[in-house]
Amino acid sequence: MYAANWKMNMSAGDAADFADKAKAWIARHHELQNYIVICPSFPFILPLAIELGNSGIITGAQNCSEFPHGAYTGQVSAKQLADVGAMFCIVGHNECRSLLHESSDAIGKKVSLLFEHAINPIVCVGETAFEFEQHQTLTILEQQLAPIIKAIKSAQSIPHEFIIAYEPVWAIGTGKTPEPQTLENVFSWILSHMQSKAPSIQKIRILYGGSVDSLNAKSFKHIKGLGGFLIGGASLDFQKFKNIVGLD
Ligand code: 13P
Repeated sequence: MYAANWKMNMSAGDAADFADKAKAWIARHHELQNYIVICPSFPFILPLAIELGNSGIITGAQNCSEFPHGAYTGQVSAKQLADVGAMFCIVGHNECRSLLHESSDAIGKKVSLLFEHAINPIVCVGETAFEFEQHQTLTILEQQLAPIIKAIKSAQSIPHEFIIAYEPVWAIGTGKTPEPQTLENVFSWILSHMQSKAPSIQKIRILYGGSVDSLNAKSFKHIKGLGGFLIGGASLDFQKFKNIVGLD
């Protein structure tokens, strides 16, 4: 899976242009259908979902409210996202944890609401540079995943495939990436942790995010346990995004 996190970038025109190109491209690559997810800013979700239709490219969101509805100015609910055609939703991105002070508990609530509205969460986890240097990565991931596991346990229905994106904070937008062996160890830990704590999940897909480009994507593709990428900066340019996927 290749998920594009456009963050607060792209104009309406840029988004439409990207969608046009992506549609023409996927028409030549049926094997990619349902493996490309584009997460634009809220105003572009509906136009993009309409434009992409049933092309096989999926529209997602970058966040949702931890509340179901009500007096929460500026917030967008999981139900509203479902209404406009979002099928995936990124939650727990470090930029939201650090800049908007979102807690892991709030992220667990978002996951529950997304489940209720049949939107597949893409749950981001990852440690800071300091935590990485202190060898605390797994402790941090365990803390971040605890409310997610709780949400899974109390859900009426969960998606067939549950998606976790490992995004070390120190790799986001910095050009730095972890060593392949580090990634393999982290993926293996996430998988066994989730399997033991949330056995109701049938399948877990683990994405890597943080300074992904066509070169490192090519070298990471063979890492055991990797199920795709969550791409920030390089997903803003269709050609760069296509180069990461590696199919012309
Ligand atoms: P970059 O690919 O720009 O480092 O961003 C990664 C990210 O935050 C994706 O969610």
